[in-house]
Amino acid sequence: VRWPRDRPGRRPVIFLALGLIISGCAVLGDGDGDPATGPEPFRPAFHFTPERNWMNDPNGPLYLDGRWHLFYQYNPEGDQWGVISWGHAVSDDLLHWDEQGVAIPAEDDLMIFSGSAVVDRADTSGLCDAAERCVVALYTGYRVEPAAPERAVQTQDLAYSTDGGDTWAQYAGNPVVDLDAPDFRDPNVTWHEPSQRWVMAVALPIERQVLFYGSADLRNWEPLSSFGPLGATDGIWECPVLLELPVDGDPDDTRWVLKVDHNPGHVTGGSGAQYFVGHFDGERFEVEGPDDGPRWLDHGPDFYCAMQFSGEPADDGRRTWIAWMSNWDYAADVPTGPWRGAMTLPQVVGLTRTDDTVRLVQHPLPGIDALRGEHRRVEGDPTTVADALATGDPAGDSFEANLRVEVGDADEVALRVRVGDDEETLVGYDASAGVVFLDRTRSGDVGFHPSFPGRYTAPLSADDGVVELRVFVDRSSVEVYDARGLAVITALIFPDPASEGIGLHTAGGPSGPIELDLWPLRDTR
Ligand code: FRU
Repeated sequence: VRWPRDRPGRRPVIFLALGLIISGCAVLGDGDGDPATGPEPFRPAFHFTPERNWMNDPNGPLYLDGRWHLFYQYNPEGDQWGVISWGHAVSDDLLHWDEQGVAIPAEDDLMIFSGSAVVDRADTSGLCDAAERCVVALYTGYRVEPAAPERAVQTQDLAYSTDGGDTWAQYAGNPVVDLDAPDFRDPNVTWHEPSQRWVMAVALPIERQVLFYGSADLRNWEPLSSFGPLGATDGIWECPVLLELPVDGDPDDTRWVLKVDHNPGHVTGGSGAQYFVGHFDGERFEVEGPDDGPRWLDHGPDFYCAMQFSGEPADDGRRTWIAWMSNWDYAADVPTGPWRGAMTLPQVVGLTRTDDTVRLVQHPLPGIDALRGEHRRVEGDPTTVADALATGDPAGDSFEANLRVEVGDADEVALRVRVGDDEETLVGYDASAGVVFLDRTRSGDVGFHPSFPGRYTAPLSADDGVVELRVFVDRSSVEVYDARGLAVITALIFPDPASEGIGLHTAGGPSGPIELDLWPLRDTR
């Protein structure tokens, strides 16, 4: 069975056998707290986490009638991967979430792996009896009998909802795509307007391929083409996403993006994502532009299996997606509890033309501004700014920092965030290397896994010698975006809750003037 062998920290078959013991341990809890008994210092203020238990990839994110729905890989029985079902949460603004409980539960010999959901207003599937709030989910059924794990298969299955995603029924004709393959997963479905049909992108992980299928009714799927191996091929491929996006906001100038996650082999070492830009003619995806090696999506370690919200009102064609904020290397070991697994900040994605090619850009959800508290501005030469931060109020444990710096003669200019006794996280610009960087080697608890501590970099040339960064700090994460959305780094951190200090770090000669805007961000829970 390839699936369990390839997955560090995850042993479905053993889990099924030991399920009771493991969930028993989860109830006792060994993480950062329990609502009933104590504080939870790592519980994010403005990132989604389930109240308790294990979560990984986002699944079937969708927008319908003013509400955002997020489904996710969820183990209702414990704080480790296993008994995987689809959890469900809803939100009016993508920041305040109400957890709804399990939407699609695992069954005896079936786990509900990753997939997507589409709003099927025209009832193309014929399953919704013309119900207006028809939602169809395509997901991977992981079928394994504990007695015969060597016969485990992954098939593409369908579930549907006539009430906008609140309650679900399994399709009686499942599976809808079956290659009798042990590794074949993560269908992502999108409507292809020119050919008036649904298109599914789905991964053959071991082969490092994405297969495309087409369908008029979401139930009968015909093979169209395959893509790959290409780019980053060291690790298995998972969670493909096929999306049409505008270049520089022009809806008449679009390209298709194919995003594929891989594990391991990311630029940071463990799991991560790459993307390709090109054309999709309804059958085949062709890459455009120079073969300049793998294009990493997020240059940090903790951004996996992003998926777009379907049904989103697309004013300018840009799209919103969200990812799992963790890494398969150490996801099972992060020191949180009674929950394990968080989502990233939702991002708005589009494309931009750079000197030589068209690239993906990622921006933080604009609505995050609504969480800002009292504004504080610090500006001046580096010494003035460093002094003001050293003598001023701490920044707290959840805040936004916008940093604008004229690089000047500096080799490095960075913010020191979540600063405490003997710990800090650095996030800033390394001019000597031409990279944005995030350093969590001294960020607090880094010892729970050997691959956790690290310094991560994303290439960025300083236009006119100026760098502008937006930094989002939460109780257990840091996300940094450059102003154009080309250099993005997402990383978990586990600092002491009392480490609320902020400071300036510089190396080399003096930088030019610095402008720093700070806002505490309100807790959304
Ligand atoms: C990605 C992944 C998917 C799979 C799911 C199982 O993180 O491995 O390929 O469907 O997680 O939980």
